[in-house]
Formats: sequence, structure tokens, C-alpha cells
Amino acid sequence: MNTLIEVLINKNKSCKSIWFMRQAGRYLPEFRKIRSQNQDFIKLCLNTDLTTEITLQPLKRFNIDSAIIFSDILIVPYALGQKVNFIKEQGPQLSKFNFDKFSKIGKEEFNKILNPVYEAIKKTRAKLDRSKSLIGFIGAPWTLLVYMMDMKNNKNVNHNLELSYLDEVIKKLNEYLCIHIQNQINSGANVIQVFDSWAGLIPKKYLKKFCYEPNKYISDFCKKRGIPLICFPKGLEENYLNFCNFVKPIAISLDSKIDPIWARNNLKNIVIQGGMDPKFLFKSEIEILNEAKRYLDIFKDVPYIFNLGHGLLPETEPEKLDKLIKFIKKFNNERKTS
Ligand code: CP3
Repeated sequence: MNTLIEVLINKNKSCKSIWFMRQAGRYLPEFRKIRSQNQDFIKLCLNTDLTTEITLQPLKRFNIDSAIIFSDILIVPYALGQKVNFIKEQGPQLSKFNFDKFSKIGKEEFNKILNPVYEAIKKTRAKLDRSKSLIGFIGAPWTLLVYMMDMKNNKNVNHNLELSYLDEVIKKLNEYLCIHIQNQINSGANVIQVFDSWAGLIPKKYLKKFCYEPNKYISDFCKKRGIPLICFPKGLEENYLNFCNFVKPIAISLDSKIDPIWARNNLKNIVIQGGMDPKFLFKSEIEILNEAKRYLDIFKDVPYIFNLGHGLLPETEPEKLDKLIKFIKKFNNERKTS
């Protein structure tokens, strides 16, 4: 049984599907080994064989229900003409945004640059057990803009937001992000997650324009085509409710600041995912399992996907993650038999 689809589509309340954001990454020694031999991160994301191998690494170790294709949200700005560099301790650095260059890139060129990603999805799907989902993903337009226009370090967000060409940039991003979604689905991904990791930076008066509307465009695109979509508007706090009412996605991923009881009581008719603080995995085994149980108990009568409130941190011990996964599987099995 494909448990992610069971929860997302059939709204099954008794099986809590499980996967983790950044489940393929630096906390795994086998990932660090490949990474140390591949300094250029974007090149690594465009290496079909290595991407396939990295995607499957966590599934070899753990009994998780889904794979997420190893890639990055910044692969889209890259395919739209910006250079992307990952500098240690500093995060990603993009070359200066050039509107003319951005505007000139067409679909053919975009698809050609990203073809290795699609080939990796095909290859991974062929190697993956039929019961497992393969998750594709994109970054939402706002979160991409934060990197494309260096708005995280730039105090002058309001000035940037009034740039006359911004509407056109968002329109093209929306269009090309939907192409990227459709290509991932055509290659064998069966679920998509949209990461709006910097939604919390948007000034209130701009939320509708830069967060709700672009996410709705993407959610509507997916609904029309029967593509299951999970939205993750990280940092929105109480505006999670306004987001859900406006966008009406089929599933919403919680960050760690959201009180899970508030979420259960206020976010209705929607599949809920995640929430537990990734830093809990640095605590003792008892504390980790107690916290996981708290989430499982709160969400026991709603369709819920177990995940964290953000990606796994590089310092996470794989053995602790394994204990957590085994605990959730046991919880599922006990519910089935009770
Ligand atoms: O979840 C997975 O296992 C799939 C792979 C994945 C990566 N990035 C690989 C990666 C996914 C889903 C992402 C999404 C992503 N990328 C987001 C949204 C989720 C989030 O974390 O908020 C964002 C904002 C990015 C941009 C990005 N990529 C940053 C800020 C960084 C550097 C800092 C960091 O958190 O590692 C990256 C690099 C990156 N992307 C790494 C991995 C495994 C680390 C690469 C390395 O240095 O070895």
C-alpha cells in the first residue's frame, strides 16, 4: 500500500505515512562521501546517476514510506539564467539578477537544462519499490525571489517589492514552476511539495500578492491535473489559517512554531503534515519519542503525515532517526490491530 497516497487522496486517518524533509543530506556519511568528491553542488544536482543514488540512500537505511528526489529549489533560477554557488557556512549565493536574461530564456532551453533531473526521477522510480511514493518539489516564487534578489541580507525588502518588473517575474516563475512540476510528474514523481521557506519574511500588506496568490496559482494548477500537492508556507504563524482559506491546498506542512493543537482545531478539511522541531532529535531517546507521541496523539483522528517542522539538521544522528521511525511504525501497527 502506498501510504502517502492513502493519506493524501483517500484521507486515511489510521496510517501515519512518514518521510523527512532533507532525508537525503549531510547527516548521512554516505552523502558526505559523495559530496566531498563533488564540490559543485549544482553540477551534482544535474548528475543523473549520483542524484539517483543519493535519493535512494535514506531508503536503504530506514523504513520510510517515500523518497524525495535529490535536487534543490534553486535549480529553477539556475535554469532561468542565474549562476548559483553554494559557499560553506554562507548558504547559496546567486549572480546578480538580470531581467533581460531572465526574460529571454524559453521553454526549450529550460527543459534541456533540467533534463538530468527528469532522467534521475525516471531512474529512481524504476529502482523504487512500488509501495513507495516519489516526491518531486519546487520552491514557491517568493522564496526563490529572496535568493534571486538577495533579500535575506538586504534590509530594503520594501524597496525591492515595489520594483516595476516584479509582477512579470512572478508570472514567469509561476509558469515555469508549473512546467517543472508537470515534467517531474511525467517522469514518475507522484506527489509534489512546494517550499515557501521564507514566507515569514513578507510584510503583512504584501502577503496576498507574494505568498497566497502564487501558492494558489500552483495549487489550482495541480488540482486541475489531479496532482497531489503539499504546501509549506514556513513562518506564517497565525496566518497559516488565512493561507489555507485562500489557497485551499489539499495538504499543509506545519513548521515548529505552530501549536499542533491550534492546527488541529483550526485547519479543517485538509491533510496535515509535520511540525515536530528537528532540534528534538538532539535530545535523549525518551524525549524524542515522547514528542513524536504528542504529535501522533493530537493528530490521531485526522489524516496526518509524520514529518518535521523543517529539514533534518546536519548534526542529526542517523541511529536516533531510526529509533523514531521504528516508533512511528509500531504506533501504526498497534492502531491497526486495536
Ligand atoms: O529533502 C531532501 O532530501 C531533498 C533535497 C533538498 C535539498 N534542498 C538538498 C540540499 C530539498 C527538498 C531542498 C530544498 C531547499 N533548498 C529549500 C527549501 C527547504 C528549506 O530547507 O527551507 C531551500 C530554502 C533551499 C536552498 C538551499 N540549498 C540552502 C539554503 C542550502 C544551504 C544551506 C543548507 O540548509 O544546507 C542548500 C544546499 C543544499 N540543498 C544541501 C542539500 C543536501 C546541502 C549541500 C551541502 O552543502 O552539502
